[in-house]
Order: sequence, then structure tokens, then C-alpha cells
Amino acid sequence: LQATSSRHDLDEVRVLVTAGGTREPIDPVRFIGNRSSGKQGVALAAAAADRGAKVVLLAANVEAAVLADVSERDDVRVVPVGTAAELEAAAQGAAPGADAVIMAAAVADYRVAEVSDSKLRKEDSDAPPVLELVENPDILVGLVRARHDGQVIVGFAAETAEDADELLERGRRKLARKGVDLLAVNAVGWVQGFESAENAVQVLDADGRMVREIGGSKREVAEAILDTVVDELAAARR
Ligand code: CTP
Ligand code: CA
Repeated sequence: LQATSSRHDLDEVRVLVTAGGTREPIDPVRFIGNRSSGKQGVALAAAAADRGAKVVLLAANVEAAVLADVSERDDVRVVPVGTAAELEAAAQGAAPGADAVIMAAAVADYRVAEVSDSKLRKEDSDAPPVLELVENPDILVGLVRARHDGQVIVGFAAETAEDADELLERGRRKLARKGVDLLAVNAVGWVQGFESAENAVQVLDADGRMVREIGGSKREVAEAILDTVVDELAAARR
């Protein structure tokens, strides 16, 4: 791959990136979480800033070591968040000031209906607890509804699929459901996609056409996704 970061095709473009995975509390010491490391989102933030963007990174439970790539830069403002509700509030606050929104965070689909103020103890119950869950709001759909003219919104879809056709089919259905301009689809499994440094992504446009297919480091994947954002921003200006 070329040293793409020497390109300055995002100069002065304001980019909002979400990264990591939300954690939904059960009690003061436990949560429901997911395996997203935040590496792909951080790579997107770093690559966008290198290409000239002013970046706000909403980081949901991203380890300091992962954030180190961007934490010292003044062109990336890192805002830590914990739960889906916190991510939603921060995203709604930041999105109006963004030309592009890249929703790489893994948002918990459900949260615990009633969070216990004290630790759940075995001593206090004679059977395993049953946790009642309620659905979290779809942050991305909310941002799409509030989208301003010319704003480009990118969603992510990490899918388990039997084969490439099923992956694409699932991606296209999700694209239609979300109403995003671009959807980055990647296959995940028990090892693929999460902690790993490598990633493989297909980017679909609003019509479901595959506009990029890229496998490589998360940085290379980030650059390819940003290429599609640059194209969309140009198209939106026309
Ligand atoms: N997303 C979101 N808010 C949620 C759930 C998902 O903003 N409550 C965003 C994710 O950040 C991602 C996109 O929506 O950019 C797709 O997430 P995904 O979990 O694949 O989609 P879901 O609609 O939750 O469907 P699924 O049942 O496959 O999890
Ligand atoms: Ca989901």
C-alpha cells in the first residue's frame, strides 16, 4: 500500500468516529459487554487526522494502549464513554458538527432493565438470577434521521456468515434498515475481526453496490473506508 497518509483529501473535514464496545451494567461490579477492542475505530481516527481531518473520537471502553495512537494528538479529541446511553448522548451532541460520521463502535443491543445498586450475591438468592433486558435505542438510525445536508454517515456490520453471498446479503439488508450512505461489512468469528490486527471489509454504498473490498491491517482498511467517504463527500457537494 502507498503511504496514503501523505494525501490531504480530508483537510478541514470534521469527522466523528465511534469506537470500542459499550458496557451495560448489571450491578456495580458487573456488566454485559462485547469483544470489540476499538482498534478499527482508532485506526480510522488516526488515518482521518493524518489526511487532514479534525476528529472527535467517542471511545467506548477502549484500552489506553489502543488509544495511545491518538491520545497525544490535538487533531483528535477523545471522549470516553461507557454505556450505549452515554454513547448516544455524546453522538447526538457531536454529530451536528460533523461532516462525516463513522459508527465503528459495537453498541450493546440490550441493557439490563433494572440495574442493581448493590452487588448481586449468591447468598441472597437460591437460584441463578434471570436478567430482564430491554432494547437500546439504535444510535445510528437516530443519527441518520437527524442527518444534515451533505453529511455522510457510515455504518458497520460485523456478521457471522456461512459464505461470501450470505455476508453480502446480510449487509444489504442492514444497509436498507439503517439508511446509511455507506456500510462497511466484515465477517467475524471466534477469532476473526476483534482483537486481531487484520481485518477484511467490503464497503457497500446506499444502493447496495460494493464500492471497495479490502483486506489487510486495520490501518489499511481504515484508509480504504476513508477513500469511500471522500468520494461520498464529493458526490454530496455536487
Ligand atoms: N448500532 C447503533 N445502535 C445500536 C446498535 C447498532 O448505532 N443500538 C450501529 C453500530 O454501531 C453499527 C451498525 O449500527 O454501525 C450495525 O450494528 P449491528 O449490531 O450490526 O446491527 P443491529 O441493527 O444491531 O443488528 P444485529 O441484530 O445484527 O446486531
Ligand atoms: Ca447489534
